[in-house]
Amino acid sequence: MRTITSSFHRRRPDARRRLALIMACFFVAVRAVVAQTPANSQPSVYSYRHEHSPDGIGKFYQGREIAQVMGHEGADWLERPQRQAEERPDLLLEALKLHAGDVAADMGAGTGYFTWRMASIVGDGGKIYANDIQAEMLELLSKNMAEHHTTNFQAVLGTLTNANLPPGGLDLVLMVDVYHEFDHPYEMMQSICRALKPRGRVAWVEYRAEDPNVPIKPLHKMSEAQVRKEAAALPLRWVETIETLPRQHVIIFQKRTD
Ligand SMILES: C[S@@+](CC[C@H](N)C(=O)[O-])C[C@H]1O[C@@H](n2cnc3c(N)ncnc32)[C@H](O)[C@@H]1O
Repeated sequence: MRTITSSFHRRRPDARRRLALIMACFFVAVRAVVAQTPANSQPSVYSYRHEHSPDGIGKFYQGREIAQVMGHEGADWLERPQRQAEERPDLLLEALKLHAGDVAADMGAGTGYFTWRMASIVGDGGKIYANDIQAEMLELLSKNMAEHHTTNFQAVLGTLTNANLPPGGLDLVLMVDVYHEFDHPYEMMQSICRALKPRGRVAWVEYRAEDPNVPIKPLHKMSEAQVRKEAAALPLRWVETIETLPRQHVIIFQKRTD
């Protein structure tokens, strides 16, 4: 009995070591899998390819490659004087049907090209949240707002998965030339939908992929069909597509209440 016991005790440290080794390998493997899974995303929603467009990030959502974010170094392009004639922002603002007192968000606001224009429509009784992922853009935006004497706005720094907008309070979220850059479009749109009032609206404004004459890189354009396909995964219903702008669609959805 003593022999058996002592032999058992002699083998136990080895068994412990083996168990510890197996556990260590298991944790290393789990950590490797977690590290490869994008934060806060459903692994099945996105796919990744090594070979991809130089303008994209190699990450795909619903058959579309996500475009690289336009850096703040290119901010002057957003404020170019020709933009008025090329894109007719006045027609876009008309299409949005904003009213005095509305609370809205300019998502991916950049330098705030649309923020102060929207703010002047909603007036002092309303408010515009200007969201961006780049703090440098928000600094430029704040200077721009001061130049236009705009005070009824709030700059909001978002994350890759959350717009950080107040829940349930927005009449409209405007997304001009930004959705195709969202790193996590599914999660970001979920967060935007949470920020909308019941029946609040969200407007995708994207360069027409259907039109080869629109002089914009392919990954920075979207077809109406692609926008509607991606919106189908969200608690939204399509309201209208407005084609009065020279280069961009205005595709409007409303938050579903059912
Ligand atoms: C092409 S600019 C458009 C700026 C502005 N909407 C306009 O039309 O003048 C795209 C902007 O979207 C921002 N952006 C990209 N991904 C974003 C994200 N996940 N959340 C918030 N902003 C984002 C970029 O930092 C950039 O300022």
